[in-house]
Amino acid sequence: MPKPYYITTAIDYTNGAPHIGHAYEKVLADAMARFQRLAGNEAYFLTGVDQHGQKVQQTAEKAGVPPREYVREVTDKFLALWERLGVRADGWVETIDPRHTRIVQDLLQQLYDSGQLYKKTTSGFYSNRQEQYLSDKDRNEAGEFGPEWGEVVQLEEENWYFRLSDHVPWLRGFLEATPDFVFPPNRMTQLLNAVNGSEGMDLCISRPKSRLTWGIELPFDSDFVTYVWFDALTNYISFAGYRDASPETSGLPSFDRLWPCDAHVIGKDILIPAHGIYWPIMLHACGFTDDQMPKLVVHGWWNVRGEKMSKSLGNVVNPNDIADVIGTDGLRYFLLSEITTGQDSDMSDERVLFRYNKELADILGNLLNRTLNMARKYLGGVLRHTAFDSPAQVALREKVASLPGAAMEHMKTWQIHRVLADCLDTARQANEFIDHTSPFKLAKDPAQADQVASIMGHVMEALAHLSVLLSPAIPAAAAKIQTQLGWTPPAGFTLQDLQWGLLPDGHTLGEPQPLFPKVLLPPPV
Ligand code: ME8
Ligand code: MG
Repeated sequence: MPKPYYITTAIDYTNGAPHIGHAYEKVLADAMARFQRLAGNEAYFLTGVDQHGQKVQQTAEKAGVPPREYVREVTDKFLALWERLGVRADGWVETIDPRHTRIVQDLLQQLYDSGQLYKKTTSGFYSNRQEQYLSDKDRNEAGEFGPEWGEVVQLEEENWYFRLSDHVPWLRGFLEATPDFVFPPNRMTQLLNAVNGSEGMDLCISRPKSRLTWGIELPFDSDFVTYVWFDALTNYISFAGYRDASPETSGLPSFDRLWPCDAHVIGKDILIPAHGIYWPIMLHACGFTDDQMPKLVVHGWWNVRGEKMSKSLGNVVNPNDIADVIGTDGLRYFLLSEITTGQDSDMSDERVLFRYNKELADILGNLLNRTLNMARKYLGGVLRHTAFDSPAQVALREKVASLPGAAMEHMKTWQIHRVLADCLDTARQANEFIDHTSPFKLAKDPAQADQVASIMGHVMEALAHLSVLLSPAIPAAAAKIQTQLGWTPPAGFTLQDLQWGLLPDGHTLGEPQPLFPKVLLPPPV
């Protein structure tokens, strides 16, 4: 049996409420997993939250609650959003989970035992906001640490380090031999440049408990907790069943079946150094072979009205506010249609309204609604196959027949916006087909009854195909289309089953319901 397609996202920091960038990444990964299943493959989708760290500890302190309570509250906000948006994960990561803590400590102990960790004292400048030490490279032209670093303090402390630099030559060779380690390809160029600049750089993996208690304790030195990346990155294996102590009862999948990960879906800011350098080296140092290395899918960032989204600019977009106005599938459709996977995109209320009103409502919703109403009027809501055919019918059938193959091709590079554009083009073509053939005029002449039935049948059949192809991106709306068509794909239905003739002769259609009611007020972007 082929291994499941294993897909993960970054785990979101629980130091604040979910924002539109978080929503995009989870919706993208969810649609990718759903598409794999539609293509007939098994998929396992893991996502979750990153709960430890100094920022969380500080925010909880300010709020006057224990960090455990604080992260529970924020974690529940993420869970509620994923539930609302139909982000349907197979596994859920919470890094305070004891199953995770055990694996992190196991790996650290293994590296300690094999002499790959050492303790040293350093002094330097430390950014509280970015939770990292700064070097002269981080100074701006004026020789200062710019405002992006927040408060910068001078620290001298003892910490544990991982001999990252020992593995840099291996990483360089691996990357050169594995061009598809990271998508899109231009990120590999950046990564190789960064690797070439990281000679002699070891990784600080600890924080003294005097400064940070909200973390996983080092198993060999109880004065320290591990810091950010050893904790966070390990989630991809700890929640995939790696070294599972109780496989019968843990609820975790079988690591041997699942690993390696086929797609770590992450934003561009955490490629270098975290996922592109630390992560493969951590795995390599723990004994993973080259063919056990995961693959990275690096997406771009959402800007808001041309500016970077940030708390200090006060332009952080709350996904719930957008979904309140255009619905959850309106939001999913916007996020997946408006961005090219791998590139940045911009968000504004105009673009959100355009995608919703001009595409979903005017093209797709209108097609379904007008055809269903005509079919009730002219056919009593029952489809009738006839011998009537014409070049316009043929053209629509050919367009529909091209969709599954094109979708498979687009999804090889996760370009779901292209799948959506093809679907919308098809709906546009079906609307024009109705305008040109004018069933509303033909219906007045009983001699044209076969042609009217053929037009209705073609559009309904096309909509059945579209409902399937749209289902990974907008599952709830796709299901509503199917209810109105009076047709649902049978269990185990795949893209290969998308053949003309889903709706048989004599098929009874469902009731028309507005699918995407027009929105007049702009959403709060
Ligand atoms: O980085 N547009 O968490 P995080 C698109 N816990 N994506 C965005 C974005 C934007 N404006 N802003 C953030 C972390 N993201 C770590 C990850 S993984 C082992 C640990 C993306 O909450 C960002 O690129 O800051 C990242 O992939 C994800 O949201 C979580 O960001
Ligand atoms: Mg971040």
